[in-house]
This record gives sequence, C-alpha cells and structure tokens, in this order.
Amino acid sequence: MTNPLSELPVPLLQAPMAGGPSTAALAVAVARAGGLGMLAAGYKTVEAMAQEIREVAVKTDRFGVNLFVPERDPSDPGELEAYARALAPVAAELGVAAPQPGEFSDDHYAAKLDHLATHSVPLVSFTFGLPSPDDVARLRSAGTVVVLNATDEAEVRAALVLDPDAIVVQGTEAGGHRATHGQAKTPLEISTADLVSAVRETTALPLIAAGGVADRETAEDLMERGADAVQVGTLFLTTEEAGTKPAHREALLSGRFGETVVTRVFSGRAARALRNAFTDRLEVEQISGYPQVHHMTAPLRAASAQDPAGLNLWAGTGFAACRETTATDVVEQFRGL
Ligand SMILES: Cc1cc2nc3c(=O)[nH]c(=O)nc-3n(C[C@H](O)[C@H](O)[C@H](O)COP(=O)(O)O)c2cc1C
Repeated sequence: MTNPLSELPVPLLQAPMAGGPSTAALAVAVARAGGLGMLAAGYKTVEAMAQEIREVAVKTDRFGVNLFVPERDPSDPGELEAYARALAPVAAELGVAAPQPGEFSDDHYAAKLDHLATHSVPLVSFTFGLPSPDDVARLRSAGTVVVLNATDEAEVRAALVLDPDAIVVQGTEAGGHRATHGQAKTPLEISTADLVSAVRETTALPLIAAGGVADRETAEDLMERGADAVQVGTLFLTTEEAGTKPAHREALLSGRFGETVVTRVFSGRAARALRNAFTDRLEVEQISGYPQVHHMTAPLRAASAQDPAGLNLWAGTGFAACRETTATDVVEQFRGL
C-alpha cells in the first residue's frame, strides 16, 4: 500500500465527523475530487464501521478511519450526579425521563483496532489521546499509515514518541470536539496558524493543519507556515453528501447564529458549537464528564431533533462560509495549494 498522504492531488483531508455527518458517500466524493476522505468510527459499532470501510474501499484507496482513544481522565461521580440534576428540568420540559449518570464506555476501542489491524486500511487517525506503541506497531505491520492528533506543543512532543507518519495539529478555531489528550485539560486557545508555526520549528514530520480552514487564503497561510496539508470539517457539513441533521445544516446556513463557543455541556468534553439556548442555559456547569455526559444528553438532543436550540450544533469559527454545495466543490477551492 502506498502512503495516501504523499500522493494527494489536493493536500486536503476531509475531517472525520462522528455523530452522523461523516458518510461513506462523503469520503468517496472527497477522494474522487483529489482529497483524502475520512470515516468516523466514533459512536459506531464495529460492524457499522466495517460496513462503511467495505463501501468505501471498493471505490477508492484514498481514505482513512478515525478512532476515539478511550478517555484517560475519569469522570467524577459526584459531578455527574450534579449535572444529572442540572439536566432534569430540561428533560422535563422536553417530556423525556430525567438523565442518570451512566457507565463509562470505551466505544469498542479494542475491537475496532483489531478490525483495522487485520483489514489493511490505508490510514488510521486517533483523537482524544494517544494509542499504545503496540497499537501503532500492529497497524504499521498491516501497512497502515498512522496519524495522531495534538492541540498544543506538549501533546505534539508526546505524539512524536510514537513516531507517527503525520500529526494533525488542531487549533482553537476547530469545530466539534477538541482533540485534547484527556478531558481534564482546558484546551489552549492557540490559533491553528500559531500552532503550526510553533510545531514546525520542532519537527520535520508531515503536519496536517486543522481548525478554521474555511477559505483558500487561510489554507495558503497555513501551508506557508509549514503545514503539508489541511484538514477541513465545518465546510463539509453543508455538502449534499454529508449526513448532517437537517436542523444542524439549516442552522449553519441560516445566518441566525452569530458565534461559536467552546463548551462541555453536551458531552462533558470541550467542543466548539454554535452558541444556542442549551449552551447558554447550562454553561455555568462546565462539566468534565466524557463519555457519560454524551450519553446523558443523547435523549434530550433526540427530543430536540427539529429544534436547533437544544442541539449540539458543532461548528468551527469559519462556519459563515458554509454553503449548500457538493463535496467536490469544497475540495476544488483548495486545488493547487
Ligand atoms: C461535526 C464535527 C464532528 C467531528 N468529529 C470528529 C471525530 O469524530 N474525530 C476527529 O478526530 N475529529 C472530529 N472533529 C474535528 C475535526 O477533525 C477537525 O479538527 C475540525 O473539523 C477542523 O476545524 P473546522 O471544523 O474549522 O474545519 C469533528 C468536527 C466537526 C465539525
């Protein structure tokens, strides 16, 4: 297998976007347009992940799969109880049962890794932390390119110890969850541009810049600072191939949402979303409780399906550039970087 990163016609990775937006159709469309398509294994069963891989692999080998590393920082039971109490009135208004603090879950990490290590996927990336050296070695021996995420220089140093093929450096502008190694950390507010510049001084490894890449000019600046490619998420949310929920899509395109916030209210882990009634109402709680809070708020989010006021509207700071378009059109904006 060749390294899909070294032969990209367009130096762009479509960000893996768990929770619906990432689809096989999106990954294939991005790959066909010259970028690298990513599947998101997060929140899926092993079989659902395997099915998507089969769907994409018959059409392209320019793709990868992203895994959530199990949370290393334990959630505090007392804080989870308190957050359950804070969510209770919201649940009552929506007519759903009051949330209870749930069990820890590792998102079937070991079984997903086993599948990937035995099915020769072109690229695997990890977020929320680092895999073990053994996990990396198993993927490598299957011919898989290994990509790690980092949000600050200390995380880059920790990632370098594993000798990855590339590092995604994620700046504060990024939509969705911050890739921070451990939920207990408050993610730095360093911009993607400053992070790329700082990291480029310390390593020659391929760097993939993620966060706020919403136009060509931003991407060019990042490449000049030493990025080898960009990873774009938010712009793909409103493409026809994405599986983004209608209310999320509409919110991004509506012009009715003025700003994004980094918030823990939906999942217990820092993530950037459009500021809405739910983020405002629960913000004081600043709960560190991943993944339990993700499961606690799931029925509330489901009950709000058509109402953007109660949804986790993940979005990067560049969301105003979102258009109703195709994945090919998004990739085309970055051709020739
Ligand atoms: C809806 C959404 C879901 C995301 N899910 C994941 C994920 O499953 N795994 C991951 O590594 N990153 C995830 N991210 C973060 C992206 O990989 C990337 O860092 C971010 O989208 C880049 O910033 P941008 O949104 O401004 O382009 C997600 C981002 C969004 C917007």
